[in-house]
Amino acid sequence: MSESMQGLKRTHHCTELSAANVGEEVVVTGWVQRRRNLGQLLFITLRDITGLLQLSFSENTEKSLFEKAETLRSEYVIAVKGIVVSRGVDANKSMKTGDIEIDVKELRILSEAETTPFEIVENSDVREELRLKYRYLDLRRPDMQKNLILRSKVAQSARRFLETEGFLEVETPILIKSSPEGARDYIVPSRVHPGSFYGLPQSPQIFKQLLMVSGYDKYFQIAKCFRDEDLRADRQPEFTQIDIEMSFVDVEDVIGVNERLIQKVFKEAMNMDIELPIDRLTYQEAMDRFGSDKPDVRFEVELKDLSDLVDGCGFAVFENALKDGGMVRGINAKGMGDLGRKQIDSLVAYGKDFGAKGVAWHQIKTDGEEKSSFAKFLSEETLAKIKERMGADKDDLILVVADKPSVVYSALGALRLEVAKRLELVSKDEFKFVWVTDFPLLEFDEEANRYVAMHHPFTMPKDEDIPLMETDPGKVRAKAYDLCLNGCELGGGSIRIYQKEVQERMFELLGFTEEGAYSQFGYLLNAFKYGVPPHGGLAFGLDRMIMLMCKADSIRDVIAFPKVKDASCLMTEAPSPVEDKQLQELALSIKKLEE
Ligand code: AMO
Repeated sequence: MSESMQGLKRTHHCTELSAANVGEEVVVTGWVQRRRNLGQLLFITLRDITGLLQLSFSENTEKSLFEKAETLRSEYVIAVKGIVVSRGVDANKSMKTGDIEIDVKELRILSEAETTPFEIVENSDVREELRLKYRYLDLRRPDMQKNLILRSKVAQSARRFLETEGFLEVETPILIKSSPEGARDYIVPSRVHPGSFYGLPQSPQIFKQLLMVSGYDKYFQIAKCFRDEDLRADRQPEFTQIDIEMSFVDVEDVIGVNERLIQKVFKEAMNMDIELPIDRLTYQEAMDRFGSDKPDVRFEVELKDLSDLVDGCGFAVFENALKDGGMVRGINAKGMGDLGRKQIDSLVAYGKDFGAKGVAWHQIKTDGEEKSSFAKFLSEETLAKIKERMGADKDDLILVVADKPSVVYSALGALRLEVAKRLELVSKDEFKFVWVTDFPLLEFDEEANRYVAMHHPFTMPKDEDIPLMETDPGKVRAKAYDLCLNGCELGGGSIRIYQKEVQERMFELLGFTEEGAYSQFGYLLNAFKYGVPPHGGLAFGLDRMIMLMCKADSIRDVIAFPKVKDASCLMTEAPSPVEDKQLQELALSIKKLEE
């Protein structure tokens, strides 16, 4: 039986009460966390969004009220009126409200509850599938509530900051024209235009640029984005960006305002001081030193170039890599000099998972003994130089990869992270930001045998590299920047091309005909004919930011209703087939695929 709250109005949230309220009559509401029956005494732990509070029933409690309390079970929703009393010597130090309890005078059972499929407790070890199927129960758990409360704080703090900086919040459409660049679009069939589809935005990119053309000067939006790509721990098919665009700016302006945003948000949401300016690396430095364009700079283990030392060394593996235009680089895993052969082999296998054909190694044990997979192929002099460059000493393990640059970077970049993990070099409590700037404008897509935009086709080349666009396109650097935090790409953006002539050259490089460019981006190109300011911006992944702040392992833990790896929702069972009638209205028919 459900009772109503008529005549009762909540006076406090659970943890708003303290010893200062002793003697007051209060009304509190929430869920029954647990009931403890001690014969003459009965305790209920009440839970609401703020935390826990003890309710007590004793021999002084009216009999019918005591009996009613005995019927309470976990997760019943109740309202109680009572007097705040001190628990004196029975205070529970581990509970925020542990020195008081409510001597209950009136109890209303607002809603009963069946036994939940798992207990509503912090740090639950329940399978994630079960948690996601019953997400509304999972979200009752205090750790999930903490995450979502932090998320709300961050969003509000960002809004406040951007408003004071003169940014306007503008919403851009969700049903837009599908465009095949970048990741795969989600598409939505149109009923009114049978056979035609909307795309869902991968980001508000083009619309925010149009807003600059419209003179809005500084735009932001906390925007939902949709990308049909393979999911990982830090990727969801729909996710949220703090999206920003500004007019009459260059790289320094965009970086400046975003650093201050990050500083403000981390201070307000986490009381953490971020020192400005944030360190910067160029893309090339990041790759050369960390093997990654999202380097984790919390620990040293850096890549060192050995190419000049091994050129002409006689060892075919190194020499062939160099002959084919590749490189030879190594890392020094300090503290791994005594690893056994099995452990070294597992590191070699790890490097191979990231594309290396092999990983050459040289260890110097703590007792000075040296073992090596490649020393025998080199002169003593060359080996000595390698050790010197690697700063190698006792208890060190040098790992070397010789290959084309992309393979060397990816294998050693991954190995340095793996080494740091095994040596426990990184702490989740440490937050290290770094800007990566000067990304290449283009990357060569071997499959398509053409250049594709590394960021997007509207990214501005660096002024001094514009002349190289036709002669050496691979060398052109862009006014593009990412902000990385602890090895995760937190956000990225660029200054955009606003000159018609540069944009045409860019489309030409990307293999677009004028017609092709107009059919895809005509509305932007047309808009640019009517007066366009220099502009640029950036977007942060809000989910990733919160994940790192919460030290969660996956962005699923900071999204209220996330999808799982195959992009389905275990709670609502989306996506799901639709009725024939709906398909008919949309002039669609489903082709059954063979298993
Ligand atoms: P970009 O594609 O780099 O840039 O995205 C910006 C940031 O969004 C986050 N992000 C994701 N988060 C969760 N799941 C995903 N699938 C996902 N994909 C991206 C990342 C990333 O750094 N329009 C440009 C921004 C600009 O140029 O202003 C853009 O979308 O944290």
